[in-house]
Amino acid sequence: MALEFTVTERPDRVSDEDRAAILANPGFGNHFTDHMVRITWDSEAGWHDAEVGAYRPFQLDPAAAVLHYAQEIFEGMKAYRHADGSVWTFRPEANAARFARSATRLALPVLPEEDFIQSLKEIVALDKVWVPDAANGGEESLYLRPYMFASEAFLGVRPAKQVTYSVIASPAGAYFGGGGVKPVDLWISTDYARAGEGGTGGAKCGGNYASSLAGQLEGIAQGCQQAVFLDSSTHTYIEELGGMNLFLVYQDGRIVTPELTGTILEGVTRSSILSLAKDLGLSPEERRIPIQEWKDAAASGELSEVFACGTAAVVTPVGELRWDGGSCDHRREGHVDEVATKIRSTLLDIQYGRVEDTHGWLTQL
Ligand code: COI
Repeated sequence: MALEFTVTERPDRVSDEDRAAILANPGFGNHFTDHMVRITWDSEAGWHDAEVGAYRPFQLDPAAAVLHYAQEIFEGMKAYRHADGSVWTFRPEANAARFARSATRLALPVLPEEDFIQSLKEIVALDKVWVPDAANGGEESLYLRPYMFASEAFLGVRPAKQVTYSVIASPAGAYFGGGGVKPVDLWISTDYARAGEGGTGGAKCGGNYASSLAGQLEGIAQGCQQAVFLDSSTHTYIEELGGMNLFLVYQDGRIVTPELTGTILEGVTRSSILSLAKDLGLSPEERRIPIQEWKDAAASGELSEVFACGTAAVVTPVGELRWDGGSCDHRREGHVDEVATKIRSTLLDIQYGRVEDTHGWLTQL
């Protein structure tokens, strides 16, 4: 049976003036709305106490298992305001299904899809005023962050018997400071891997992101914004960035992304791009991509574009690829990221309701 949410609207909302100032320049991940969702699970009663109320800190026991053993998962989604003022989200069933797969991998309880989607509706119902207007063709949205963690106070290593699910929301502009179409440079991390075979790489859990940070720092020290991780067993094949999937575009119309090997996150944007690429007459391929292929194809001129993608990053072109002792760039003089730009605008046009949603990807919140 679907959960019933208790709704408590906070009396002390952020003022209209302060909210307008935040929405005028939200950045990414800096500001949070007035409310949040919380649902509790325990091994005896299952899911209960579903509520949407004031955004506030958790009271967490210092022995809460998540603080010690990182039993935690999350999702990243967005709410988009259409020209008529209505608010929509993109493929929430796909996020709900991935959240369920991540839960199973991290030995957390599965939240039913209808409760997951209802939790998004509940927070947006109270915080609709926080969904920015992207009327000027920008990519402003309300980023939704559902997450679940082991809140039981217990230091033995076993799946927690008490778990908390929550959703917070954060008005968002472009993930990268320079805006969505400014290229990012990438560093090939060889000292570090993001995930290994049989590990949690295919799940959306905080630990994968924590393990990507040392590689990212290495990249930043080399003047890059992000690190590319290779497979941990052979250090040969491209996997993904710290929080984004990758696509390589060839002059002959092939658009290639690393296949899902269990160590790569199954991105919702990634899977949408595979469909859109077909619609646009390109030839999508999912396969293992040796890092050497990227270097060779950049050198020969066969590679025309590379881009990163994700809910937060949307579609972000890649500039230079650097590694210890070398670098390559597929961008020649007068280069335009034609395919990345087309896919990006097609995706945003669907998300903001500017074109027909022929794939049935949108759900009204
Ligand atoms: C997303 O794209 O929503 C993600 O979860 C990536 C995150 C690191 C911002």
